[in-house]
Amino acid sequence: MTDWQELDSKYYMQTIVRIPVTLVKGEGVRVWDDKDKEYLDFVGGLAVNCLGHCHPVVVDAVTEQVHTLMQTSLWYYTVPMLRLAELLVKNSCLDRVFICNSGLEANEGAVKLARRYGHLKLNGAYEVITTINSFHGRSLAMTAASGQSKMHEPYIPLPVGFVNVVNNDIEAIKAATTDKTCAVMLEPIQAEGGVNVADDDYLKKVRDWCDQKGILLILDEVQTGIGRLGTLFGYQLYGIEPDIMTLAKGLGGGMPVGALLAKEKAAVFTLGDHNATFGGNPVTSAAAYATLKYVIDHDVVGNAAKTGQYLIAKLKDLQKKYSFVTDVRGRGLLLAMEFSSDIGQDILNACLENGMLVNRLKPNAIRLIPPLIITNSDVDEALAILDKSLSSISS
Ligand SMILES: Cc1ncc(COP(=O)(O)O)c(C=O)c1O
Repeated sequence: MTDWQELDSKYYMQTIVRIPVTLVKGEGVRVWDDKDKEYLDFVGGLAVNCLGHCHPVVVDAVTEQVHTLMQTSLWYYTVPMLRLAELLVKNSCLDRVFICNSGLEANEGAVKLARRYGHLKLNGAYEVITTINSFHGRSLAMTAASGQSKMHEPYIPLPVGFVNVVNNDIEAIKAATTDKTCAVMLEPIQAEGGVNVADDDYLKKVRDWCDQKGILLILDEVQTGIGRLGTLFGYQLYGIEPDIMTLAKGLGGGMPVGALLAKEKAAVFTLGDHNATFGGNPVTSAAAYATLKYVIDHDVVGNAAKTGQYLIAKLKDLQKKYSFVTDVRGRGLLLAMEFSSDIGQDILNACLENGMLVNRLKPNAIRLIPPLIITNSDVDEALAILDKSLSSISS
């Protein structure tokens, strides 16, 4: 039998400490490795597989589209991207859409759009305020945008034009705003940076400040969008509307697709300003249309809200049981469990052994980001595995 992990060490760029499992198959909330061991998947392709693995509506949409038209470039009108754009606009507060391929690409587009707005309407303002511990992607510009010094150091000098300020602190944003500022860019909940939930009125205060100063509010909803927080988009949870929003992850139901959306007033790109070879790709757009339509028509968002509440309540029970669990936090199905010491990897390993995938969020925390279609019975099964894994660490 081929040793796939040996092939990885020989041929693949070593950029990440992989978990020693080779996954070969997925269905619903379960995946299997090459030794046929089954796992309950509470990572879901890193908050991507909102409908679980290989959902039939996504598989059918992709299958039909690959037999019809796979790639054209944006020089031509194609049907899937236009149906997707219409569906996104009709179900959000934004007016215009650009379909791309990933979260970072959507965010790059958002920052370009904000700078264009700054050039046209704000006397050349170009700076974007972001927050410490945010994560916006791995291009050089998004590395600079992400407020994490460990990401910055290996790549100095970074592109200019980003100011990272303390999260959940409106005064920090106010203090950083100058006549060079064109936008504030935030995740509704900082996801990769620790599942950091800001105060309920923080986004509202930021919105008000942006309005007062005439600058744009960009919401990076790459992780929080498409139902993850128990609302279709994170901004709905906080009762505000962004000027620009980015999506990826859950949008394609497992296929790589991102979207940049803007209100009419902020959609200032003119002909020739932005493009991408694979932008609006028919196959990934068809997958995204099918995913989003299913999410909307089958109240997947309501399920995420309900099972999320059930899951967080059960996690809080575990917190009472194990004194080394110091915090349980999040919204919807973006949840984290934090520990008093750096046992995140040990918990991950124990869960793996016991048949469940979890994500190590930080040395002392794990993240649970399961498919949004999970049932209470999946949650019960996950809780039993977590309980067993936590008890093996504590004993
Ligand atoms: C909030 C947020 N923005 C951007 C990204 C980057 O997306 P991608 O990995 O698709 O480039 C991520 C990825 O985790 C994310 O969570």
